[in-house]
Amino acid sequence: MGRKFFVGGNWKCNGTGEEVKKIVSTLNAGEVPSGDVVEVVVSPPFVFLPLVKSTLKPDFHVAAQNCWVKKGGAFTGEISADIAEMLVNLGIPWVILGHSERRLLLNESNEFVGEKVAYALSKGLKVIACVGETLEQRESGSTMEVVAAQTKAIADKVSNWANVVLAYEPVWAIGTGKVATPAQAQEVHSELRNWFQANISPEVAATIRIIYGGSVSGANCKELAAKPDVDGFLVGGASLKPEFIDIIKSAEVKKNC
Ligand code: PGA
Repeated sequence: MGRKFFVGGNWKCNGTGEEVKKIVSTLNAGEVPSGDVVEVVVSPPFVFLPLVKSTLKPDFHVAAQNCWVKKGGAFTGEISADIAEMLVNLGIPWVILGHSERRLLLNESNEFVGEKVAYALSKGLKVIACVGETLEQRESGSTMEVVAAQTKAIADKVSNWANVVLAYEPVWAIGTGKVATPAQAQEVHSELRNWFQANISPEVAATIRIIYGGSVSGANCKELAAKPDVDGFLVGGASLKPEFIDIIKSAEVKKNC
């Protein structure tokens, strides 16, 4: 089907200058499959974007962790996607939007995330768009309803999905060490693909990369990667450690599927 495996490293609000340099040298030295097999994107805090961009080997790309919903201006503390200004101008091709930490802690609504995704795409950024249910939502049986509503709010504003990677990140698995089982991840990924088939188009359903995030580690990545609808990972905690290289290497699993 030709969906290239995608591994994103979400560093969140972590790292000193020294630590960032260390992570970059580990990444640069890591022996990983070629760019035909896996696409690797790391997302440092804003202040380290220029440093990481200028020191990371060019096979790997860099993402911002957020961007503003429109053009820059009087928006204290925000960063614009706008080509004339910030991210695109800095040569940052990717942005993570809709992460559950922003949805839950900063009250970003489904609609707001949809608008942000549309604006970032319109400025030429590629987007890692995150969706995922809380534990209460899973336990009450509404997982699919929740992720479908989050995805629909993006679909309402976006017509071209070519530059979108969808990250399914169950909130209960993020930073908890409680990873979704490969079967749980596969079930939601496959239902999301069905959602695209029914609501967008068979082409988008077949080509969109749906990656899993939530306590992915060097120890559990291969089993998850073996699932047919898991097209890669968005990795938090483990992306700050050398085991991120092992997670990138799990792309090899797809060759044997
Ligand atoms: P985690 O975070 O790997 O630390 O669980 C994943 C994410 O929030 O993207």
